[in-house]
Amino acid sequence: MARNHDEYIHHLFGNEDEALQSVNESIRKNGMPAISVKPEVGRFLSLLVSIAKPRNIMEIGALGGYSGIMLASALDKEGSLTSLELEEAYANVAKDNLNRAGLGDKVKYVIGPALQNMDSLHSAGQQYDFFFIDADKINYPNYFQAALKLATPGAVIVADNTLQGDNVFDENVTTAHVTAIREFNEQVATDERVEAMLLPLCDGLTICRVKP
Ligand SMILES: C[S@@+](CC[C@H](N)C(=O)[O-])C[C@H]1O[C@@H](n2cnc3c(N)ncnc32)[C@H](O)[C@@H]1O
Repeated sequence: MARNHDEYIHHLFGNEDEALQSVNESIRKNGMPAISVKPEVGRFLSLLVSIAKPRNIMEIGALGGYSGIMLASALDKEGSLTSLELEEAYANVAKDNLNRAGLGDKVKYVIGPALQNMDSLHSAGQQYDFFFIDADKINYPNYFQAALKLATPGAVIVADNTLQGDNVFDENVTTAHVTAIREFNEQVATDERVEAMLLPLCDGLTICRVKP
């Protein structure tokens, strides 16, 4: 019996198919950190992609490809995923996992610091209509600003871990990453270019829509 809403939601929506289980297994085997999105967050990402029907998704933080599979599997035939990852070795694991899931032709990995690569992609005239921010927390405010530059009108920007284990509303917690997420939350709540909401799903999921 579930003891709280998180356990209840996990019980109902937290099941994983073989492809997702094998992502977690490959992460463990390769000694990578076990910090993929929770299955219910992944499922919600798929749902958002099915609703928004983006053509070009940008993911910031690939790790082993768990969220990449959830995003890419919900894309229409013509849709594509550009995934930004600092660590080449992680991107290679993610690529293998997306290939195994039959999604390899939908994804392209861009290796290196995401902010720099977002800048280069902007200079190259690239645009995206869906963003998933899930990399280093300290850069969330910068990723939000960079995403706004790369966004088409009506684009969706989603960010994970925006409650930081409820530390965001504990004034006594002033660590750099919690302070950065607080700043990000304040930005999205007040920036008139977007409509936004923070949902208390797992560790907090923020969803914004860039006003057309
Ligand atoms: C929480 S994990 C991503 C999990 C992934 N979204 C998933 O659910 O499958 C964060 C990832 O961001 C990457 N990362 C950290 N700093 C980065 C940076 N400056 N630029 C690009 N990626 C970065 C890490 O290497 C790590 O793979």
